[in-house]
Amino acid sequence: MSHTLLLMAPLLPAVMKTLESTYDVHRYYEADDPAALLGQIADACVGVVSDGGRGVEAAVLEALPKVVIVTVFGVGVDAVDREYCRNHDITVTNTPDVLSDDVADLAVALALATARRMVDADCYTRAGRWPKEGPFPLTTRMMGKRAGIFGMGSIGDALARRLEGFGMEIAYCNRSEKAGSPYRYVASLTALASEVDFLFITAAATPETTGAVNADVLDALGETGYLINVSRGALVAESVLVDYLQKRRIAGAGLDVFEKEPAIPEALFELDNVVLQPHAASATHETRAAMGKLVLDNLEAHFAGRALLTPIA
Ligand code: 8YV
Repeated sequence: MSHTLLLMAPLLPAVMKTLESTYDVHRYYEADDPAALLGQIADACVGVVSDGGRGVEAAVLEALPKVVIVTVFGVGVDAVDREYCRNHDITVTNTPDVLSDDVADLAVALALATARRMVDADCYTRAGRWPKEGPFPLTTRMMGKRAGIFGMGSIGDALARRLEGFGMEIAYCNRSEKAGSPYRYVASLTALASEVDFLFITAAATPETTGAVNADVLDALGETGYLINVSRGALVAESVLVDYLQKRRIAGAGLDVFEKEPAIPEALFELDNVVLQPHAASATHETRAAMGKLVLDNLEAHFAGRALLTPIA
């Protein structure tokens, strides 16, 4: 008999197809009565599959005492109750590395789009303003500027390698200094912000990093500095950021992630110094397929009694 799994959020159609033809999958997100569904599968359900944004909360896991694995379609596991999993011997897997290149690409694209005001300039061109009003105002260069990366994991590293191509001087802030890293380590995020023109956020959302980009950090970044966030909205004090953007206390921001997705502070829509993305850094056909494969491979390995491909320590 196939193993029973609970699916918290829809995944790619191809992944869903394999998942549902291999396992006995129950869709939590479509249940009319979620509590009743949990009750029905409580004795059989051994695994939970979710995405990075949805994760799974303790209340769901408590109702499913046989669950031994939580598999996340995404690298960030901040929406999974890790403490509950640790205390109940539930293994958590995610999809690291396969998405790092695309997330790094989007961070670079956001930095360029923000500093070069590409979205605004596109609107200007489409609206036919160029022939009438003349050239678009000058923008800011990225080449040769100073970059700060908050979070030097696989994504931070992929980003740094790209920024080298822009001749940027690269420094980073991380939980600890990375042995052998060619980049300059700065222990304090505020100090890092004060030394750079572009501050990139690539750190995982943890209790330690929540709200890390606060007024002090934005003051340190200053009115010529740009903030680029491809991690989680939780790392940034969002209302403070909106205020700083409105008052031009920083130069601009490129944001792929927000505190309460998919809700975005409407004040951001009015601003010409931000470029917004709908949490899409990993959203390419290639990367999402690789993420899906990793989810399926982790489940297969688990049920075959083999070592997991990407367990979280
Ligand atoms: C996904 C992400 O957008 O990897 C992550 O942590 O946030 C993204 O790659 C997310 O998992 C939703 O599918």
